Amino acid sequence: MRVTERFPRYLWPISAHLRGGRLHLGELDLAVWAAGCGTPVYLYDAATCDEAIAAYRYGLRAWPGPSLLAYAAKAWLNLPAAQLMSRRRVGLDVVSQGELAIALAAGYDPALLHVHGNNKPPALLDEAAAAGVGSIVVDNLHDLELLEPLAAARATPLSLWLRLNPDLLAPTHHYRQTGHHGAKFGLTWDEAHAAADSIRKRGGMVLTGLHTHIGSQIFELEPLLAAADRLVALAASLREAGYGEIACLCPGGGLGQPYHPEEGRFNLAEAVQRIAGHCARTWSQYNFGSYPTLVLEPGRSLVARAGIALYTVGAVRRLADGGRIIAVDGSMADNPRPALYQARYTASLPAAPLAPPTGPARIVGPLCESGDVLIEHVLLPEVHPGDILAIPVSGAYHLSMASNYNATLLPPVYWREAGKTICLQRRQTPADLLLRDLPLPS
Ligand SMILES: Cc1ncc(COP(=O)(O)O)c(C=O)c1O
Repeated sequence: MRVTERFPRYLWPISAHLRGGRLHLGELDLAVWAAGCGTPVYLYDAATCDEAIAAYRYGLRAWPGPSLLAYAAKAWLNLPAAQLMSRRRVGLDVVSQGELAIALAAGYDPALLHVHGNNKPPALLDEAAAAGVGSIVVDNLHDLELLEPLAAARATPLSLWLRLNPDLLAPTHHYRQTGHHGAKFGLTWDEAHAAADSIRKRGGMVLTGLHTHIGSQIFELEPLLAAADRLVALAASLREAGYGEIACLCPGGGLGQPYHPEEGRFNLAEAVQRIAGHCARTWSQYNFGSYPTLVLEPGRSLVARAGIALYTVGAVRRLADGGRIIAVDGSMADNPRPALYQARYTASLPAAPLAPPTGPARIVGPLCESGDVLIEHVLLPEVHPGDILAIPVSGAYHLSMASNYNATLLPPVYWREAGKTICLQRRQTPADLLLRDLPLPS
């Protein structure tokens, strides 16, 4: 096993490096730091997020018109994370009252928010309209029924996008496919026309954009490009039908993020450039008056690589076949992705990342489920109770999908920027768990 295989640099934050044979994030010795703050703990690297944002903005230059990078909040959101994105003038895609409330509490410019959801609660629409969000994305015709009374009560029209279901199968796990026939998301072509008609007739609302999103963790660009083509064709067909030209075109997010050395590498800036350039070429074929704002709404590819999960090893079981079951203090409670999608990860001992492996191991958590597995198979050196284990690419869809199963307390989250490490979220306490509970009357 070569050094690059034992430490695949592209899976770790860009500030990660080896010094004295130990894994560091900037000046921080990860094993020492994690032991000092207690595990499980998550650490994010600002430079990695910023590099991903810069890659998107660079790639978007292939689009001749204005553009907006929007972050899909579902990948990872809390108050400081929303502040971090807002300060970087990144837009935000929110899908729930909770996400909207966090964004507003973080001081987000409402004009930078757009609201998604295949079954939006009326209260979400109410709050979004009252906050003056940039746009609400119509996912089905029922949305318009809910929006009508809100629109009627407003002085300014509600800005709406239509989400097209392009009937395309994204090459990804079927739980992450969102743009095929039978998916719960988006309007068919005919429904999109019906929605445009309905928007015009109802008044108090205006069609400003078109959107599509075919899924997540996509490495082959062709289906994304094909979805964008359908979106542009829909824009042309709506214009022909007399609904005017749109101001925003959003072919979604979904770009893949390698998690495991066998998944290969991916050049984000080039991928974005290809998407933006392709959209520009397709757009130019239809003789529109001008270029709308091209909006991309990635989640994973902005934050996944920035995050590291750090755990402490507890029980180590040796199996007759030479394998090991290594139990750590993190679990499917902080990272449900392996249980949900059989997601693969790698791991390293930050105190000795280059130590030669002695055999395979399965990394499990302490919860009462045999599915409580973080890594099914990883080659590791000798591991002892008390060792710190680090799992890279832990920044997206871990904590935002986390649960309190077995009343597990969620880990604290730290952020490392410009040589400083700050706490974004403290560790949950049992008192937090009891906060909502109402004792029975005696
Ligand atoms: C509508 C929409 N946009 C964007 C995203 C972000 O996808 P990703 O994190 O894969 O970039 C999602 C994720 O499910 C989504 O549903």
